[in-house]
Amino acid sequence: MKPKVYVTRLLPEEAMDRIRSFCEVELWEGELPPPKEVLLEKVRDIEGLLCLLTDPIDAELLSKAPKLRVVSNYAVGFDNIDVPEATRRGILVTNTPGVLTETTADFAFALLMAAARRVAEGDRQVREGNWKTWGPLILRGQDIHGATLGVIGLGRIGTAVANRAKGFGMKLIYCDPRRKTSTEAELGIEHVSFDRLLAESDFITIHVNLTPTTHHLIGPKEFSKMKKTAVLVNTARGPIVDNMALYHALRNGEIAFAALDVTEPEPIAPDHPLLTLGNVIITPHIASASVTTRTKMGLMAAENLISGLKGEMPANPVNPEVLGK
Ligand code: DGY
Repeated sequence: MKPKVYVTRLLPEEAMDRIRSFCEVELWEGELPPPKEVLLEKVRDIEGLLCLLTDPIDAELLSKAPKLRVVSNYAVGFDNIDVPEATRRGILVTNTPGVLTETTADFAFALLMAAARRVAEGDRQVREGNWKTWGPLILRGQDIHGATLGVIGLGRIGTAVANRAKGFGMKLIYCDPRRKTSTEAELGIEHVSFDRLLAESDFITIHVNLTPTTHHLIGPKEFSKMKKTAVLVNTARGPIVDNMALYHALRNGEIAFAALDVTEPEPIAPDHPLLTLGNVIITPHIASASVTTRTKMGLMAAENLISGLKGEMPANPVNPEVLGK
């Protein structure tokens, strides 16, 4: 008998095939996340759940899943899952670290460059028929080479972004509660205080997890410490930045530009004030969305699910203590 699992969205084919090879799969075929009532119903009889960052796996849901043994998240971030509650119930949680690092860093750097050189505004100008001529004052942006990049959180993705920035001749600084001395030596990146990073960076890129400590880490006080020419890039999680504070900072010229791949909430409401501003780029949480990476994430999530169902330690456990190791 194959173990029953629920998969909350269609994954790349290779991943679906791998899951089907070991499990009896029920798939939510909708493009939007399954509604909570559907999830509450489906988890009653399953041993494994493969979910996305858009599926809140909370205490109520876990309480309705007496047979559930593994929750395999198709994401490196797992702030959508109540991990302590899963652990308390002996349910293993896994994620997909590593495989999306370089792809996400590519995109963070793409946003940084697009913001610096006003790519989206230029495109809008052309499409709207407003490209009248070449002019010395038209759409002047900021140089990337020689500018200072401040990395908030020098983990895997932050380091990969810093590595790209080094190639562009940027000066590198970072803040992180943990010093990364070997990365400091390798990339020539300097560890600084949070306040110094805010004050000295021309570009700030966020690469921390969303936790109660990092919720609204960047708010009115932080914007007031930044350069008026600063560009903020967020590819981590939306709630790390206070969006209304960002709106005011951009509108009042406290900072120059923001480029966001993540917002609070997602999707951002089409009438959100941020969308009235020209000096912000917002993309729909696509930093890891390359064909290759989304397949790798799927295969990793599938293997994690299968190992967990076999009672083996998966490659990417979030709460390995559940298996007593
Ligand atoms: C993640 O994995 O956490 C990203 O936000 C989506 O790839």
